[in-house]
Amino acid sequence: MKVSPGERLHIAAMLRGQKGHLSFHTPGHKRAGADITELSYSDCLVHPAGVLCAAEQDIARILGAAASYLLTDGSTAGVFAMLYALRAAGKTDVALPLFSHPSVWHACNVLGLKTHTMSQTTRCGIPLQPDEEALEAAFEEADAVLLTSPDYYGNFPPLGRARALADSTGKPLLIDGAHGSHLHFTADYAGRYADLWVDGVHKSLPALTQGAVVSAREEWAGSLREGVLTFRTTSPSYPIMASVEYAVKYPRNLAIEEAAETFKRGHGCLRNADWSKLLIPFADPCAAEKYLEAHGVYPEFNDGNYLMFYLSPCTKPRDLVRLGRLADRLKKRQIPPDAPPGIIPMYDKE
Ligand SMILES: Cc1ncc(COP(=O)(O)O)c(C=O)c1O
Repeated sequence: MKVSPGERLHIAAMLRGQKGHLSFHTPGHKRAGADITELSYSDCLVHPAGVLCAAEQDIARILGAAASYLLTDGSTAGVFAMLYALRAAGKTDVALPLFSHPSVWHACNVLGLKTHTMSQTTRCGIPLQPDEEALEAAFEEADAVLLTSPDYYGNFPPLGRARALADSTGKPLLIDGAHGSHLHFTADYAGRYADLWVDGVHKSLPALTQGAVVSAREEWAGSLREGVLTFRTTSPSYPIMASVEYAVKYPRNLAIEEAAETFKRGHGCLRNADWSKLLIPFADPCAAEKYLEAHGVYPEFNDGNYLMFYLSPCTKPRDLVRLGRLADRLKKRQIPPDAPPGIIPMYDKE
């Protein structure tokens, strides 16, 4: 297991050190192994004092948070928890970009928050992030602003400007970072700007599906905890929690970051700002998808304009070479600046 220098894996070490025992506890499979429940030696996620506490504290330190909470039910639970914290602070109006994830709209709905939609224009068939002007209007109109950073297409909103506006207006900035946990080493990381933010650790770092973290600055840590306790499962998965701790402590892989940027330049990808998302405008995206799948290569999505290939620090350079070889056999096209958006993944609003 690879971890950054000086880091220890508290949850994994506890799981490895288990003795065999008779299980008269959940889960019902009754097998020993990593999938245990909260026992005297494995800590308790609601009141962590042992390995889970140590893991959460390390994660908060690495992410630059006053408090970070482990989630085993995806970024969705984190989005609900941070919007709960906002509601608990008496904020009722939230501004958010049109193409926010369904979990954001659902949480606003459930919590009775009034939404102010920030329009998003499209360029070359993808939605652009709100610009500075839209941000200024959003901070003026609403009690809080929730941005997605980066988005599924690998672009960032003007984060520095958003923080400056949050400071000058005294209104909180929330960031849905479902696609950005690999950025915690960098100046583009959501946690450097937001008051409350979610890391979708399972999407871009080596965590098991549904592993995520929600974090806050000092003044929001208490109400975020209430939100977490309201929306998070009470049966957390130890394999997922151990994988989240591992993923957050996984070392940066500059070689793959550079290889990704070289790939983008060499294979006609759309220019974007996040190395981990490659967008290739194939002339016939459906035929390209079929061809690639027939060769054992599966992209993240096909929106009708682009196939998107999602990388992580675990992507092997040789796999990029293979993708490049196959992609070069297929015709690409120039998507004009005024092309309409494709079928934007995870967007289900009328
Ligand atoms: C921008 C964004 N936010 C939140 C989510 C929800 O994440 P999860 O599936 O981990 O609950 C997603 C999932 O795709 C997403 O794309």
